[in-house]
Amino acid sequence: MTDTFTKDIVDGLTAKDKHLPSKYFYDDNGSRIFQEIMNMPEYYPTNAEFEILSMQSKQIIEALKFSRPFNIVELGAGDGFKTFKLLEYLVNNEVDFHYVPIDISQEAIDILTRRLKEKLPALKIDPKVGDYFEILKDNRQSDYPSLLLFLGGNIGNYLEHKAKELLALFHKNMKRGDKLLIGFDLKKNPIIIHNAYYDKHGITKRFNLNLLVRINRTLDADFKIDDFDFYCHYNPITGDVKSYIVSLRKQTVHLKAIDKYIHFDHDELIWTELSKKYALEEINDLAEHAKFKVENNFLDCKHYFTDSLWQK
Ligand code: AVJ
Repeated sequence: MTDTFTKDIVDGLTAKDKHLPSKYFYDDNGSRIFQEIMNMPEYYPTNAEFEILSMQSKQIIEALKFSRPFNIVELGAGDGFKTFKLLEYLVNNEVDFHYVPIDISQEAIDILTRRLKEKLPALKIDPKVGDYFEILKDNRQSDYPSLLLFLGGNIGNYLEHKAKELLALFHKNMKRGDKLLIGFDLKKNPIIIHNAYYDKHGITKRFNLNLLVRINRTLDADFKIDDFDFYCHYNPITGDVKSYIVSLRKQTVHLKAIDKYIHFDHDELIWTELSKKYALEEINDLAEHAKFKVENNFLDCKHYFTDSLWQK
């Protein structure tokens, strides 16, 4: 029981209120299901951020006020779809910059690099695989100003104190004058949010239950997937979407690899994810707390999402 995955899973499943970290959704299969989520018409963040980067790349780049050549460092670049419009704008306008996509998945980085070399042959791309902060440290040595990208609303998965910790780490690893463009999903009509997360196709349910499939495979466990369901709930006051796996029976699951038994009551919950929605004032407070200055908010036309530009 040495690796962190095993430890996190066991800690979460033996806690009084069971919980599992949402970062473990993204094995190869989970990443594919997440692509399906992004393709659902109900999952508005995909289109909202795509619109922002399609329509406002010029405004975003002008707001940087970077004169010299600069770097764009993207944290969690994934397959790079999110950022394509911004990169395309820069390449088409012959702006002098380096693109440094960072991801933990070698496979994602390989796909991204191949696609970008094909679609934007003039792009100077310097992909990195590994830990964000190790690579960010290198970036502090660079003579050039940097724009850090943290897109897609991933910050929404962090509890408030964790979000603050993460932003403090970003800040620590940036140079004075560097900028951060960070995506936040905004509070909006609760029905819109409900339909994006409690989707009628059952894709988000599959996304959650895939975590049990992953545990079955990795820890040789015997979760009967049909004996579990999915529930999620949006609280429009706090802005929290909370997702749960529900045990449909009183049952016991055996994690054979570490010979541990987990007992579930009828209707017992496993909390799997927080997807927090923000108000613009809360975004300001977060930025200030981490000693950033908010320079601009770039919203989509429906005001569902913002890419917020901060300066160190
Ligand atoms: C990838 C974290 C932005 O919280 O909206 C989508 C993941 N979870 N549907 C989000 C997710 C359920 C997504 N993020």
